[in-house]
Amino acid sequence: MLDHEQVVIRTGRRSRLPVIVAVHSTVLGPAAGGLRLWHYPDWRDGLDDALRLSAAMTSKFAVAGLPSGGGKAVVALPEGMVLDADRRREVLHDVADVIVALGGTYATGPDVGTGPDDMASIGDITPHVFCRPAHLGGSGDSSPHTAQGTLAALRAVSRRLYGTSSLAGRTLSVVGLGRVGAALARLLAAEGAALTVTDVDPGKRKVCDEVGAVWLSPDKILAAEVDIVVPAALGSVLDEPTVRGLRCRAVAGPANNQLATPDVADLLHQRGVIWVPDYVASAGGVIHAISAELHRLPAAEARARVDAIEDTVTDLLRTAESRGQTPAQAADELARRRLRAAPGPTGP
Ligand SMILES: NC(=O)c1ccc[n+]([C@@H]2O[C@H](COP(=O)([O-])OP(=O)(O)OC[C@H]3O[C@@H](n4cnc5c(N)ncnc54)[C@H](O)[C@@H]3O)[C@@H](O)[C@H]2O)c1
Repeated sequence: MLDHEQVVIRTGRRSRLPVIVAVHSTVLGPAAGGLRLWHYPDWRDGLDDALRLSAAMTSKFAVAGLPSGGGKAVVALPEGMVLDADRRREVLHDVADVIVALGGTYATGPDVGTGPDDMASIGDITPHVFCRPAHLGGSGDSSPHTAQGTLAALRAVSRRLYGTSSLAGRTLSVVGLGRVGAALARLLAAEGAALTVTDVDPGKRKVCDEVGAVWLSPDKILAAEVDIVVPAALGSVLDEPTVRGLRCRAVAGPANNQLATPDVADLLHQRGVIWVPDYVASAGGVIHAISAELHRLPAAEARARVDAIEDTVTDLLRTAESRGQTPAQAADELARRRLRAAPGPTGP
């Protein structure tokens, strides 16, 4: 059964590439969610991603308490295709055409494979776009805010485990030192945390040196004996074998879709490992973009909303414990409750 309000699949008139926009829900407000420009063996794999990721955006906004709905755009590039600047602009304008056709039901932003400059190109055609560069009136790169929000989630985990939100002296392993992972590693180092880090890109060793961390290979880091593992690379890192090998007390990080399958949340729980749902820990970027650009909040108030992830996670962990649920169940229940309490879909 289709769980989405609408899904548009269109061959871009300029690029001839498949442009997919999934609007999962506008029950809480107009949908928002990033544009993934990524290689897929088949465009239908991109469709699967758009369906799954747009549903996660609905939950992300609902748990964050924001009046936005869940959507996602995917352009499925054939394996090996490299876009030059002109072709890239064509693709982005094709995406903008679909956004225009949706009449304000969906606004996009950056995701894997896209950034603020791409949002500027989309902004040539439609105003329904977040995170354009600051000189064009956008809120720019979301990753520092995602990192800030993850730090807030980690403070809540620390409070639950150790009775203090301070991360000084805690041991954490950061898996992936990309835009978010590197920013988060810097924040954690500044807090006095002891870090173990990795990336498949050996060039990221300079971030490791900068933050005084220990480098472990990607295949060893999940089994490192640390307080908290922080997934900050790509999805599906937690499956049965990796969870059985964990030697940490909690897993919380910004990477999307960390669980290979939903039942891995139960296994984490059985093993006594606290798992903060990824859509809660990674919400800082969208919370900031929506607050700054849509709600026009001053910087300090937008930042306060991002920092409030600490309270959200604290409440979720407390609720889960008191009800004998996993944090994933508690978060899903909270999202469903907020959706049920809303009046209904937002028209274009
Ligand atoms: N950028 C944001 O604001 C934002 C918001 C919400 C969620 N996220 C999620 O956070 C994660 C990181 O996002 P990003 O913007 O930093 O992406 P990025 O592409 O800048 O960084 C990802 C990093 O992970 C590394 N990597 C890939 N596979 C790896 C592996 N198996 N082991 C170790 N390292 C590996 C890459 O080399 C890269 O350095 C993604 O899952 C993304 O969907 C990002």
